[in-house]
Amino acid sequence: MTSWDAGVVVGMVGLGTIAETHLAVLSDFPQVRLAFAVDRDPRADVTFKDGVPPRYERLEDALVHHQPDVVVIATPTDTHAELARVALTGSTARVLVEKPMVHDLAALDELRSLDPAAGVASRVFVAHHFAFSPEVRWAADLIAAHPGWGPVTRIAAVFHDPYVGDADHSFAAYGSSWIDSGVNQLSMLTRFVEFTGRSSLHESNGGASAWCTGVFLVGESTTGMALLRTSWEAVASSKRTTLYLDDADTEIWLDHTAVTAVAIHRGTLIDHLPNDAHTPRKIAHYRPLYESLFSTTPDPILSFSTAAGVLQLLYR
Ligand SMILES: NC(=O)c1ccc[n+]([C@@H]2O[C@H](COP(=O)([O-])OP(=O)(O)OC[C@H]3O[C@@H](n4cnc5c(N)ncnc54)[C@H](O)[C@@H]3O)[C@@H](O)[C@H]2O)c1
Repeated sequence: MTSWDAGVVVGMVGLGTIAETHLAVLSDFPQVRLAFAVDRDPRADVTFKDGVPPRYERLEDALVHHQPDVVVIATPTDTHAELARVALTGSTARVLVEKPMVHDLAALDELRSLDPAAGVASRVFVAHHFAFSPEVRWAADLIAAHPGWGPVTRIAAVFHDPYVGDADHSFAAYGSSWIDSGVNQLSMLTRFVEFTGRSSLHESNGGASAWCTGVFLVGESTTGMALLRTSWEAVASSKRTTLYLDDADTEIWLDHTAVTAVAIHRGTLIDHLPNDAHTPRKIAHYRPLYESLFSTTPDPILSFSTAAGVLQLLYR
C-alpha cells in the first residue's frame, strides 16, 4: 500500500469491549475496509459499513485468506505478545496492539528478538489512547504556549474504575489496576515529562489498588515527582491528573472522565477546555489516534520504542 488515504484494509482481533470503540471510529474513515474479524469465542457478527466481514477463531487462519494493511489486536493483555508475533510473521501489516503492549518484560524481549526480520520496531504501534484525549492535548498545547510558566515540577494522577464488581473478568482481561491504568498514566504523562524511574509499587487487595511515585527530569539537573494511584475499588470511574508548574504558581487540573480541564494561576481560573457533550470519551481518544496511525508520520507516542520505555517503568 502506498497511501493511507487511498484505502486501508483492516483486520480486527478480539471482539470485546474496546473493539466496539475501534470499530465505531474506523467506520468513520471512508478509506477503511474491514476485511475480517477474529475472536476465539462465539460473538455476535460484526456489521461494518453495512457489510458483515468473515469471522475466524484464529488469526493464523484469517491471514491465510487476507492481506491486511493493519491488524488491530484488542484481546486480553496476556495474549498480545503471541498475537503480535503471529501478525508480524504472517503478514506485512502494521500491527496496532492495545495497551499495554505485552504482559511482562520477558514477552517484550521475545517480541524484540523477532527483529530485524519482522520489522517489530517499525511495524508495531501501541494504542496509548489516553495521550490523545482532548484534555491532555489541550494541556500540552497550553504549556507549550506559556514557556514563562516553567516546567511541570509535580504531578498527581489518580485513576479509579469500578472493576472489583467483576473482579474475575477484570484480572483476566487487564492483569491488575496498575497494569491497566498505570500504562495509561505513564504513556499520557510522556506528553509533559520524561520519566527516569519510579519507586516500588504498593499494591493492596490482590492488585485491585496500587500506588507509587514516578521520578522525572525537571530541566537538566533536578527531578520532579509524580504520585500515581490506580484503583478498581470505586463505585464509578473517575480519572484525574493535576500538573503543578510551581515556578509560576500554576496548576492544570485534567478531568479525564468528564473530558475537560482548567488552568489555575495564583488562585484564579485563567483558562478552561470546554466540551460540547456530544463526543463519547473513548471516541474522542481513538479518533485522533487513528488519524495519527494513518498518517505518514505517526505520533511517536504510538511507537514500539515509546511502549518499550513505558513497559520498563510499568513492570520494573
Ligand atoms: N475495556 C476498555 O475500556 C479498554 C480500554 C483501552 C484498552 N483496553 C485494552 O484492550 C484489551 C482488551 O480489553 P477488553 O476490555 O476489550 O477485553 P474483553 O474481555 O472485553 O474482550 C477481549 C476479547 O478478546 C477475545 N480473545 C481472547 N483471546 C483471544 C485470542 N487468542 N484470539 C482472538 N480473540 C481472543 C475474547 O473472546 C474477547 O471477546 C486489554 O488489553 C485492555 O487493557 C481496554
